[in-house]
Amino acid sequence: MPDNPIAAAVRKALAEVDIPGGDKLASYSGLSEIIVTPSAVAFAISVEPGMEGAFGPARADAQRAAETVAEGRKVLVSLTADRAPSGAGQAGQAPQQRQAPPGKSPVAGLKHIIAVASGKGGVGKSTVSVNMALALLAKGLRVGVLDADLYGPSVPRLLGLEGRPAVREDGIFLPHEAFGLKAMSIGSMLEKDQAVVWRGPMAASAMRQLLRETDWGGLDVLVIDLPPGTGDIQLSLCQQVELDGAVIVSTPQDLALIDARKAMDMFRRLGIPLLGLIENMSYFIAPDTGARYDIFGHGGARKAADELGIPFLGEVPLHMAIRETSDHGTPLVATAPEGAEAGAFAAIAGKLAPVLA
Ligand SMILES: Nc1ncnc2c1ncn2[C@@H]1O[C@H](COP(=O)(O)OP(=O)(O)OP(=O)(O)O)[C@@H](O)[C@H]1O
Ligand SMILES: [Mg+2]
Repeated sequence: MPDNPIAAAVRKALAEVDIPGGDKLASYSGLSEIIVTPSAVAFAISVEPGMEGAFGPARADAQRAAETVAEGRKVLVSLTADRAPSGAGQAGQAPQQRQAPPGKSPVAGLKHIIAVASGKGGVGKSTVSVNMALALLAKGLRVGVLDADLYGPSVPRLLGLEGRPAVREDGIFLPHEAFGLKAMSIGSMLEKDQAVVWRGPMAASAMRQLLRETDWGGLDVLVIDLPPGTGDIQLSLCQQVELDGAVIVSTPQDLALIDARKAMDMFRRLGIPLLGLIENMSYFIAPDTGARYDIFGHGGARKAADELGIPFLGEVPLHMAIRETSDHGTPLVATAPEGAEAGAFAAIAGKLAPVLA
């Protein structure tokens, strides 16, 4: 398949970049595909474990070289030491010698960072992230949302974000602002319906840059909406930033809870505190009769939280209005703050706020 013209120009520019050993970067086997979106150019350089330092100057040169042909797009270059590439002829690099990931460091302008996770897809993480963020805002905190779901970003739709975030002269993003929240999503940088294949290191790099190369402007808390499951993005995020903790969203079905347990287990192993469990789509109130239906066998999450010894943060009912407002980019907590559904999020925020003071 022919390269996109920008990708071809980047590749050509990388033919001038020296790498350790005397070759040029463009012909190096560890150079990834070059991804071009309307606002970004991204590629990864994977190197032998222990070679990160030696490749540092090549990475910086690659960044500069790509910027000269990126036509104003932001350039994201990641440098990762992965398992030894096959056939690279460097014997003796046993997997145990892999370098530990670089230490965690704070993110400028953020006091607290919490991640919203689930084992299973479609349980309402994004809906909960946005409405919980708005409920925290209503408590007087300065709040932002980072959409870390590179594979299926939904924050632009939920908050009605339009267009791309502005980029400062020095390349730093200025986040969108909606309903008083600061918001960043990779979805804002892609064309509608554009599918992007993120290879592991590239996804990690894109995440790092969305998080660290954004002028958050001083927030009490950043809520990170994660993709479902326990993949690369979750791992790299946990390795690179000190999270205050994770909030797990689950539906009441047992199956979902089995998956939720896997997600919890991952955070435990990584030493990330579990701030609590939220049961979403917990029960259904019929709009006409007001009758309550526990369609999924309500209460499973509370029981699981008790068993696992983590706080139960609350239940969010299954409600048409939650879905409709999400689809219209007018989140319920901002547009109908007096309603019972918004009340459910307010109660959750009330339990979390003390941790984030
Ligand atoms: N409490 C609720 N009541 C009614 N609809 C809901 C509720 N929570 C979420 N939904 C709807 O369910 C669908 C999935 O929600 P959402 O996108 O938030 O889930 P997710 O866990 O983030 O999904 P993914 O795993 O794809 O990221 C959306 O259409 C959303 O509007
Ligand atoms: Mg989501």
